[in-house]
Amino acid sequence: MGVRLAIKQRVMFCFGTRPEAIKLAPVIRELARHPMEFHPLVLVTAQHRQMLDQVLRVFDIRPDYDLDVMRPGQSLSDVTVGVLRGVERVLRQVGPDMVMVQGDTTSALAAALAAFYERIPVGHVEAGLRTGDKYSPYPEEMNRRLVSSLADMHFAPTRTARDNLLREGVPRGRIRVTGNTVVDALRAIRASKAKWRVPVLDRIAPGQRVVLVTAHRRESFGPGFDRICRALQRIVERSPDVEVVYPVHLNPNVRRPARAILGRNPRVHLVEPMEYLPFVRLMERAYLILTDSGGIQEEASALGKPVLVMRDVTERPEAVAAGTARLVGTDAEVIVSATERLLRSTAAYRRMARARNPFGDGRASTRIAAALRRFSVPKAIDFGRRFPRLPA
Ligand code: UD1
Ligand code: UDP
Repeated sequence: MGVRLAIKQRVMFCFGTRPEAIKLAPVIRELARHPMEFHPLVLVTAQHRQMLDQVLRVFDIRPDYDLDVMRPGQSLSDVTVGVLRGVERVLRQVGPDMVMVQGDTTSALAAALAAFYERIPVGHVEAGLRTGDKYSPYPEEMNRRLVSSLADMHFAPTRTARDNLLREGVPRGRIRVTGNTVVDALRAIRASKAKWRVPVLDRIAPGQRVVLVTAHRRESFGPGFDRICRALQRIVERSPDVEVVYPVHLNPNVRRPARAILGRNPRVHLVEPMEYLPFVRLMERAYLILTDSGGIQEEASALGKPVLVMRDVTERPEAVAAGTARLVGTDAEVIVSATERLLRSTAAYRRMARARNPFGDGRASTRIAAALRRFSVPKAIDFGRRFPRLPA
C-alpha cells in the first residue's frame, strides 16, 4: 500500500471566442468542484471581446489573464502572433502542469503552439473533427489538424472523431471519447432558473413561425453571404407566416451584407449577438434553424430542431446521420427549396424534428476530469518531468 500524495494539477484553460467559452465553461466548473485535485486557471486571449464577455458573465468565469488581442477587422496572422506572444509570456510566468484548448480557432492553435514551445502538455477538447477539405471550413480544418499534432491528450466528442484521430496515427491510449461539452453547457443553461426576456419575440405574433438564422464562416464571405441573404429575403416574401430572426455576428464582413440586403425587411429581424440563455430560448421557440455554425448544429440536434446547414461540407456528419441536419450549401435556390419543404410538408418536418443526441449525454466534463486525473502527473511530484505519463 503506497501513500498517495494529493497535489493539485494546475490546468490552464486558454481560449478566446464565444463557442470556446461555452464549451469550456462546464470543464472549468467541473475542475473547480474538486479543489483538492485541480487548480483551474483561465487565460482568455479575447480574440472576441463582446461576444466572449457575454459568455464569461453567464457562466461566472473570471479570467486570471486577459490578453485583449481583439482588433476590429483583425487578420488571422494578427491573432496568431498576438496570442502566441501573450500565451508564451503567461506560461513562462505561471508554468502550469497542463494547457487545455478547445476546438479549431486561431486562439486554440496559437495557444497549443505556445504550450508546445514551453514543453507543457496540451489537452484538446473537441478533438478529431474533420471535413477532409483543407479550405472548408477555413481556417478551422487546418487549425484543428495542427492542434491534433501538438496535443498530448485528445478528448474526442464521438467515436467518429476518435476514428479520424486513429487514422492519422494518434495512439489509442491518448484519446478519450467523452461526448461534446456543449451538451453539458446546454443542460446547465436549460436547468437555470434565471429569468431572461427575448425582446425580439415581443415583436412576433405567437402564431408566426420563426426561422432562426446565424452565419459567419469566412469561406462564405462575399458572394456566398449575398446568396444567403437573398435566399432569406425570398423565404419571407413567399411565406407570410414566417419571420426570420437573425442575431448578426460582429464580424464586419457579415454585418455589411446582412444590413444592406435585409435591413429594411419588416419580417427579417436583425438583432445583436445574444446572451447564451435567451439564445437557447430562441432556439427552442424556432420552427427551424438555418446556420453555418458548428455549435448550433450540435445544439439543434440535442433540442430536436431541424437544422439546414449553409455549408458545402460538415465536420459533424453525426447530425446528418441522425436526421436532424441537412447540408444545403450557399446556393440561394437550394436554401429556399429546402426551407420551403420543411415549412410545407409536415411529414418532412417531423422526420427531422426528433431530438437525437449523437453528441453526448451531458457528462463530457466529468469524463475529461477523470482522464486528467488518470494521466496527468503534476510537476511537483514528477521531479520536473513535464510530460504526462501516457500509455504508448
Ligand atoms: C472566430 C473563429 C471561428 C469561430 C467564430 C465563432 C478563427 C479564425 N475564427 O471567427 O472559428 O467559429 O469565431 O464566432 O479563429 N468582432 C467584434 N467583437 C467580438 C467578436 C468579433 O467586434 O466580440 C469582430 C471584429 O471586427 C473582429 C472580427 O469580428 O476582427 C472577426 O473576429 P475573428 O475572431 O477574427 O473571426 P470570427 O469570424 O469571429
Ligand atoms: N450563440 C449565442 N448567441 C448568439 C448566437 C450563438 O450564445 O447570438 C451560441 C450558440 O448557442 C452556440 C455558440 O454560440 O453555442 C456558437 O457560436 P458560433 O456560431 O459563433 O461559433 P461556431 O460554433 O460556429 O464555432
